[in-house]
Amino acid sequence: MLTRAVYPGTVKTLEEEFNLHKLWLAPDPDKMVVELAPTLRVIAGGYGCNADFLAKFPKLELVANFGVGYDTIDVQYCKKHGIRATNSPDVLNDEVADTAMGLLLCTARQLVVGDRFVREGKWLKGPMPLTTNITGKTMGIVGLGRIGQAIADRATAFKMNIVYHNRSKKDVPYKYYPNLVDMARDVDVLMVIIPGGAETSKLISREVMEALGPTGILINVARGTVVDEQAMIDLLKSGKLGAAGLDVFEKEPQVPQALIEMTENVVLQPHVGSATHATRTAMGQLMIDNIKAHFAGKPLLTEVPETKG
Ligand code: GLV
Ligand code: GLV
Repeated sequence: MLTRAVYPGTVKTLEEEFNLHKLWLAPDPDKMVVELAPTLRVIAGGYGCNADFLAKFPKLELVANFGVGYDTIDVQYCKKHGIRATNSPDVLNDEVADTAMGLLLCTARQLVVGDRFVREGKWLKGPMPLTTNITGKTMGIVGLGRIGQAIADRATAFKMNIVYHNRSKKDVPYKYYPNLVDMARDVDVLMVIIPGGAETSKLISREVMEALGPTGILINVARGTVVDEQAMIDLLKSGKLGAAGLDVFEKEPQVPQALIEMTENVVLQPHVGSATHATRTAMGQLMIDNIKAHFAGKPLLTEVPETKG
């Protein structure tokens, strides 16, 4: 069963290779769940895979997620019931890192504001206000995983200074901050790319954003839940936080009206970090390869750590 509309080419391949049931297109999804419950072996796509949902399928063997973040799969439940889970890491590292740098350039150099400035004829009346450089500035990366490293590589090429906060110190040439508030105080840009879920909920708190301060730029390409969204809105409105570039939100696809109205210091994207044809194809292929490996009794390619043997 595929839970949601993933890349169309991926859906097509799944249809060709498996007995596929498309939950999001079912006229009556509850009925489909009831009908499949006694026999279903694999859930593909991910999303909404909480314990209540997973418990409906006693024969379930695998949850194959489309995406690197698997915060919408209850992996503790999976572990307890011998269900394995896979995600699609690595193939999207460069894409998400590109999105992150794009959001940074759009906020610091006001590229979206500049676009509007030209279209609205404001240029004819005088030059656009000056913007902020990123060369020589310090970027604090929250979550130095594989995507975080790809962002660090890019920011280094932009001649930025890199520091990071992570659960554990890594063998990297960047300064490590065990304390997030301390890091936020010292950086110009806070780059958030830490996994979502209960552990990181509202990790980017009011205190962290206040420490980042009136000239600070917050970029979030992780999960909306990682940031205290209401605190962020308050601080952006009152000028206590400089700017934000956001690809993710607490209640997607709902975006708070307050963010929509802040057109000068906020840049918004509709959760498109990995959304290119090539990368979505690669993510889909990896999901399919994991499902095939499972049915062939071979080792899974990218099993999430929590459900490993
Ligand atoms: C996208 O957000 C992903 O987790 O791959
Ligand atoms: C985290 O940043 C990852 O790529 O898993």
